[in-house]
Amino acid sequence: MKIIALLILSSIVIFASIYTKADRIKDMQIMEKAMSTISTGILYNNIDIVKDGAMLLSDTIRKVKPPIEVEVEKDPMARYINNRVIFSNKIVRNIDRKVKTILERFRDGDSRAASQAHAKIMKQCIQCHYEVLDW
Ligand code: HEC
Repeated sequence: MKIIALLILSSIVIFASIYTKADRIKDMQIMEKAMSTISTGILYNNIDIVKDGAMLLSDTIRKVKPPIEVEVEKDPMARYINNRVIFSNKIVRNIDRKVKTILERFRDGDSRAASQAHAKIMKQCIQCHYEVLDW
């Protein structure tokens, strides 16, 4: 009985840690929404809306990683692309840092600096799409 319980538990843990392409697409769509929410908050001068968007973006960007389909890939070309994704982890950290900048500047009443940080995040999103997807 104990062993069965352990097996079920460990399979739940393993299952929960698998990150698929579908998960990544979902996270991308959440981040797109978070970016719009931040713009809305800046334009309406509403710190609560900015905070909501910033927290959502920050939580989501931390989850983004190379999906399982890429990690298990043995093909050299796919591994090359995987390396580009690893490079893009730097972008993820940059985005996370800029989210903090948005909140700090907006709190200081400097909405121009906040929107500049927002634009810099957008640039990082596009950079990764360019590196990984040639978009
Ligand atoms: C680590 C690299 C990386 C970063 C950083 C990144 N993206 Fe993406 N994005 C991707 C990849 C890869 C896809 C394609 C997903 C797929 O089809 O597997 C994608 C696709 C998307 C899509 C299309 C999703 C769909 O439904 O097809 C949107 C929207 C998007 N990203 C928004 C963003 C936003 C907003 C940011 C910045 C906050 C961002 N992305 C940052 C890698 C990244």
